[in-house]
Order: sequence, then C-alpha cells, then structure tokens
Amino acid sequence: MEDDKIKTPTIWERVNVARRKFSPRREPKIACFEYKGDRSVKEDIKQKYGFDGDILDIFVDTKGVLVNKWHHYIPIYDRYLSRFRGTKVKFLEIGVSKGGSLQMWRRYLGDDAVIFGVDIDPDCARYDGQAGQVRIGSQTDAEFLASVIKEMGGVDVILDDGSHHMKHVAKTLNDMFSMMNDGGIYIIEDLHTAFMRKWGGGHGRRQNFFVVLLQIMKDMHGWYHYKKIEYPGVSGRCSGIHVHDSVVVFEKNKVFAPTFSQIS
Ligand SMILES: C[S@@+](CC[C@H](N)C(=O)[O-])C[C@H]1O[C@@H](n2cnc3c(N)ncnc32)[C@H](O)[C@@H]1O
Repeated sequence: MEDDKIKTPTIWERVNVARRKFSPRREPKIACFEYKGDRSVKEDIKQKYGFDGDILDIFVDTKGVLVNKWHHYIPIYDRYLSRFRGTKVKFLEIGVSKGGSLQMWRRYLGDDAVIFGVDIDPDCARYDGQAGQVRIGSQTDAEFLASVIKEMGGVDVILDDGSHHMKHVAKTLNDMFSMMNDGGIYIIEDLHTAFMRKWGGGHGRRQNFFVVLLQIMKDMHGWYHYKKIEYPGVSGRCSGIHVHDSVVVFEKNKVFAPTFSQIS
C-alpha cells in the first residue's frame, strides 16, 4: 500500500537536515519561544512548575512598566531569593531596561531591601528613586560597579540581566564576586545567549559561558590538581553552583581546604 511506504526525503529535506547539523549559524530565534498558549501566564506557570508563590502574582500583576521574564525563572527566583524577603538585603540588578524588574523586586523583597539597578543606557536614569536607585554605567567597568557597591554599603545579591554578551558576563562575574558579602548569591540569567552568535556565544565556541563555568568548576577542585586556576576571584569564594535552563546561581561563602576523617 502506498501509505505504508517509507517516504524518501527530497533533496531539499536532506539539505535542510545537513544545514541544521553543520551550519554553526543556524540558531533558534528567541521569538519562537514566546508564550502563545491558551491559558493565562499564571496558570501556565502554576501547571507546568507546580508553583504558586507570591512572586507569581507580583509578576503577572505588573502594571505601568514593562517586565519580560521567561516563565520558568519565576520559581527559580523564589527558590534562591525567598530567604532575603523582608530583610535589609542589598540587591543589585545589572540591566534596568524599562524599570519593570526593579518594581517587581521591590514588591517581592520589601521596603527594607536596598535595591540598586545599573544600566549603560542613560535613559534608565528616569527610573532612579522609583522602586530603587539607578546608576548609569557599564557592567564592564569594574571601578564603576565597585563605586555602586560602596554606595550600597556592600552587596548580598547580584543579578546579571545586562548585556548578556559572553565576554561581559564572565568579566563582570570575575570582577564582582569577590566584592560580595558572604552568604550572598550571584545570579546570571538568559544564558541561552551562550549558544547564540549575536551575544558572542555558540555551541562549540570557547567563549560560550558554559565553557567558563566548566573552568570555574575545575578551579573549585584546585585542591586535587596542579593546573592553573583561571578564575581565583570566583572559585576561591564559591561554595556552590546551581545550573538551571539559562540561569546559573553561584553561592558566595568561605571555602575551606577539604579534610576527611575516618571514624569507627
Ligand atoms: C534584558 S534588559 C534588562 C531587563 C530588566 N532586568 C527586566 O527584567 O525588566 C538588558 C539591559 O541591559 C542593558 N545593558 C546592555 N549592555 C550593558 C552594559 N554593558 N552594562 C550595563 N547594562 C547594559 C541594556 O541597556 C538593557 O536595558
């Protein structure tokens, strides 16, 4: 019967398969991930991730400003940030854009939180003094970031949602991690950019942030090898790393030379 025959791919189908396989320039466009489902954003997050915390209502109730977040980030934020709610946490976000996320952080973290945002775009100064303080400068400028942290009186949480350029992401982490308070966390989001040329990434490229991450993990295990430590500012003070889809969370704490005991 005709329908049961295995269909031979046309030449164009074969070319397309080969292109996907071999062309490093073929990357999915971010736009193809935009949520187009029937249920509400809140229902979608609730049903997929089994999550129904306050931050979800805060996110979906955003009004008057624009905030753009991937659905799976919402429970991840809550997992790492809930312990800072209602405290005097010092929170710095790199990337202010339209001011929406600063508003979300203020509503989530509470009135006592010290919230600062930095952005390279001078237009973001208009959000200064609303949900938090905004300072204008580049995340690649370590002196500028150090001056902001000084003004904040230290920093417990840094969220890098800035340029997403591979070189910047790694440099900022390396520059800033040692300036953070112990017990703090450093979050990098939108790391799908590590696979995209536009942001200096690519699956097999050494600039891909996940290659940097592997090096940091090797550095953290420097006790067990004699190879060069490439990121001492991070690995020497990093007590743990959590990897999620496009989000990496580094825990900052004192690190001790490992010891073991035999007890019987
Ligand atoms: C993805 S948007 C931030 C979105 C915002 N956090 C939110 O959730 O609503 C990225 C922002 O990073 C800023 N940016 C780009 N390059 C930067 C750099 N080198 N230093 C600081 N900010 C930068 C852009 O101007 C832009 O406003």
